[in-house]
Amino acid sequence: MTQTFINNISQTYKRLYSSDPILVKSPGRINIIGEHTDYNDGFVLPAAINKGIVAALGKSKNDYCSVFASDLNEKFEFIPENIEAVPNGNWRNYILGIVGELQKKGINTPPFNLVFGGDIPNGAGLSSSAALENSVVFGLNELFDLGLKKEDMILISQMAEHHYVGVRCGIMDQFSSMFGEKDHAILLDCRTQKAKSIKIDFEDYELLLINTNVTHKLVDAEYNDRRNVCEKVAGLLNLKALRDATQEHLNVIKNQLSEDEFQKALYVIQENDRVLKAAKMIAENNIEGLGELLFEAHKGAQFQFKISCEELDFLVEKAKHNPSVIGARMMGGGFGGCTINIVKKDELQNYADTISTAYKQQFKKDCSIYYISLEEGTHLINN
Ligand code: GLA
Repeated sequence: MTQTFINNISQTYKRLYSSDPILVKSPGRINIIGEHTDYNDGFVLPAAINKGIVAALGKSKNDYCSVFASDLNEKFEFIPENIEAVPNGNWRNYILGIVGELQKKGINTPPFNLVFGGDIPNGAGLSSSAALENSVVFGLNELFDLGLKKEDMILISQMAEHHYVGVRCGIMDQFSSMFGEKDHAILLDCRTQKAKSIKIDFEDYELLLINTNVTHKLVDAEYNDRRNVCEKVAGLLNLKALRDATQEHLNVIKNQLSEDEFQKALYVIQENDRVLKAAKMIAENNIEGLGELLFEAHKGAQFQFKISCEELDFLVEKAKHNPSVIGARMMGGGFGGCTINIVKKDELQNYADTISTAYKQQFKKDCSIYYISLEEGTHLINN
């Protein structure tokens, strides 16, 4: 995100509200491996990136809140009392959600003004929603001295998404966006929320994102459906979550499950193992091994958990047959968005060109290429 972009958000705030705001930067995230393991109390390996949201916030002199979504040129005003989600409210519900969840904790924020914008493409699976939620709760905490810890803030962000957006997401996105560290990924145990920073330097290789530019309309429903299956299987096993299950456990209740449910639960168990293996491989600098795990993870996402799509499969298949790429998989909730690829550093540009041409030929539309760096989590920036 450029300084000019940040300045523009700040200028817009000053123009609209005639005062100086505080500025918060909150990043999007990638996930090296561990998809749909977070809400199963499992492990994930995400990192905050150099794409994110900037929010400018200040106290309001009026008795209502005023919010301006600068990228969309849309304004929204509301009274911070008896907060409810707006039908088809889109971005509005993330903001309302934060205010509403704060109220549930007995924290009634006085009226405020907010301008936000960002460079995370929508539906790319890079967690623009968590970045927005975190920027708002972090900003309000600063502005009104609410005394919240970052650990509290991410739970407020997550609950805003559950209750005001309707997605029963895990904690990965909010955690990594809030706690990201420069040049590091986070090995997160989603049960205990204990995290270990893992230095990412793949030497001759680099991470590259390729956005299919596909967004599935029913993605929220599909997401919640996956979560329901996992909870059902864990319930049948009398376990708190699938994190505690093994394939042997699953075999015992196989006749109580459809083949589809069995495969989905098996995927979660295997994906959770892959995360731990991946962290070990990174520590041992076994990047080829890590790449193989990414390909395996994609296969699981495609055939077992069924969260992929034609475009994602195409990108991963092409990666498999290109010697410059040693690993690739779909990333995020699924049904569109990006693949994450481990590509030879000196072949990055070549590969980007080759895959862009192939994608265009196949689907008659463009994919987008993102070169990323790993960055610090949600923080205040100078005005
Ligand atoms: C979305 C959710 C996360 C996580 C991923 C899949 O990004 O917000 O909590 O479940 O999907 O790994």
